[in-house]
This record gives sequence, C-alpha cells and structure tokens, in this order.
Amino acid sequence: MLKKEEIRAFLGETCLAMMVISVLSGTIITFHYDYHMPYKTTQFITYAVPFGWFLRRLHYWSSEFFLIFLILHTFWHLYFDYKKHSFFTWLIVTLSVPATLFVMFTGFILKGDLEGLSALLIMKNTLLSIPFFGSYIIPFFINTQDKYYLPFLYHCFIIPLFLLFSTFIHLKRIFSKSLYTLYSCVLCLLVAIFFPLFPSFPPFSTAQALKGPWFFWGIQEAYEFLSPFMAGIVMPFVFFFLLFSLPLLKDEKPIRFIFSVSVFVYCLLSIYFIIVT
Ligand code: HEM
Ligand code: HEM
Repeated sequence: MLKKEEIRAFLGETCLAMMVISVLSGTIITFHYDYHMPYKTTQFITYAVPFGWFLRRLHYWSSEFFLIFLILHTFWHLYFDYKKHSFFTWLIVTLSVPATLFVMFTGFILKGDLEGLSALLIMKNTLLSIPFFGSYIIPFFINTQDKYYLPFLYHCFIIPLFLLFSTFIHLKRIFSKSLYTLYSCVLCLLVAIFFPLFPSFPPFSTAQALKGPWFFWGIQEAYEFLSPFMAGIVMPFVFFFLLFSLPLLKDEKPIRFIFSVSVFVYCLLSIYFIIVT
C-alpha cells in the first residue's frame, strides 16, 4: 500500500518529469520545424528526419501525461494536502493550469493539419466573440500574414518559460530523492516507442467530423448551446477563478464544493460529446 506522502511525491514528480521531457523533445523537434509550412515540416520530421517519428511521439505522449498528472497533482493538493500560500505564489501556480491547456491547444494548432487549422479558426472566432475588445485582442494571438507565427511563439517560448518559472517558485527542492522520476521517464519512453500518433489529414482535405483534443471536448459540446464567448472564454475563466480564489477566503469549503461540481459537470459534457459525435 502506498502511503499518502508517496502518492503526493509520485504525482508531483511525475508531473515535473513529463514537463521536462516535453520541453526537451519540443526543443529538438523545432530545429526541423518551420511555421511557414507546418504540415509539410511535421510530415518531414515524421518520415525523413532520423528518429523524428520517435521525437514527435515522445513530445506528444509526454505532453499528454504532463496534463493528466498536472490535473491529478492539482486535485491532490486541493483535497488532501491543502495549505494556504501567498497571494503571488498561488496566482502564478494556479495560472499554470490554463497555461498548460493553452500550450497543449497551440501544439494541436502547430501540427498544421486539418484539425490544427480548424483549431486555429475556433480560436479566432472565440476571441472575436469577446464583446467590444475582440478585434483588439486578435492581433496578440493571430498574425494575419503568418497565422502560425504567434501560436508558435507562445507554444515554444513564452508559455514553457512561464511553466518553468511557476514550477520553480513552488518547489522546495529541485532534485527528487525518490525513483518516481526515473520510472515515469522509462514508461514514457516505452509508450513513445510502441504507441503511434493519431493519423493527421492535410489542411486542404475535405472536412469530416472533427474532434478536438480530449480536454477540449466539454467546451466543444458547450459550443452547441452557448455562444462562443460563454463557452470558450467565460467557462474556462470561471474554473480558473474558482481555483485561484481558494486562499483568498477564510473558509474554502464552499468554493471547493462548487469547483468539484463544475469539474463533474464538465466531465459529463465531455462524455455526452463523445456519445453524440
Ligand atoms: C507546471 C505545473 C506544475 C509542476 C511541474 C509542479 C510540480 C510540483 C512538484 C514536483 C512538487 C513537489 C512534490 C509534491 O509536494 O507534490 C510540487 C508541490 C506542490 N504543488 Fe505543484 N506543480 C505544478 C503545478 C501546480 C498547481 C497548478 C498547483 C495548484 C494546486 C500546485 C500545488 C502544489 C502544492 C500546494 C505543492 C506543495 C508545496 C509545499 O509543500 O509547500 N502545483 N509541485
Ligand atoms: C510543457 C510544454 C509543452 C507542451 C505541453 C507541448 C505540447 C504539444 C502538443 C500536445 C503538440 C501536438 C502534438 C501532436 O498532436 O502531434 C505539440 C506540438 C509541437 N510542439 Fe510542443 N509542447 C510543449 C513545449 C514545446 C517546446 C518548448 C517546443 C519548442 C521549443 C515545442 C515545439 C512543438 C512543435 C514544433 C510542435 C509541432 C510539431 C508536432 O506536432 O510534432 N513544444 N506540442
């Protein structure tokens, strides 16, 4: 039986290890990537660069594990090991959740395939739906001449640097004493060797029923009955606000309850989306 302390170390350290693998593999991939021709270069990396297929798989799987362990790590500290942190630390650390979702989403865009292009259009329409400010915000995320340039900049530099910073400010020690980091790295390497990426279709191919990344399914379903602004901006903001507001309150139990209910409803929406598509 694993003790509480061990589970805590396992979740936190695996989350960190996966983030580091993701940043390292992404950095190597980028030497061969060109955001002017994203689809062509990702295909080139997969089929022509030596071990390119492996690096892409490693980047993909480490990122998926990073997000899963980040969610588990966040829940663990929220429900089993909650202690108040300073306003600044908590703000930066909780911001790493939406930042990770954004880096995953922009990674999806950077593939430049049919799904990536649709994700870019969804991002554009969602930002445009922000009342009054939409058209002023767009230039901060999408450059009309080079549409993949800004997602590339956020994905490869700005957000990873922020994630490293947010991790650094809440860690007590950098190197772990346990073997969890080693175990999780070996497991991730094995998964990357044996499990391929999902097939991608050229951006000019005919549209088919497109599913976004799994963490986006709930929002995709919400788009069916809410406006893009409510589903794509307000809903994620409420999640983040609930998480962030915890240490500001004397009694965090009611907010924790509302947060749990929101997560539960989001999971139901995601399951419903999968059933109906
Ligand atoms: C970039 C994402 C993150 C990484 C890589 C990361 C990594 C880690 C690691 C390795 C530890 C030490 C092991 C442990 O105590 O669990 C830790 C501690 C902790 N993490 Fe994170 N974490 C991240 C995001 C978050 C988020 C979003 C929260 C919000 C709930 C959070 C809350 C905590 C807390 C409360 C501790 C204990 C700190 C202490 O003992 O003072 N972390 N984190
Ligand atoms: C924690 C940080 C990161 C996460 C979570 C992440 C996540 C992702 C994801 C999910 C994809 C889509 C993969 C696919 O579906 O095939 C992707 C693609 C990509 N990422 Fe990252 N990434 C991170 C950091 C980086 C960094 C630091 C770089 C470069 C310096 C980078 C470069 C790329 C490139 C060029 C692509 C498109 C090519 C491809 O799909 O293989 N990433 N990323």
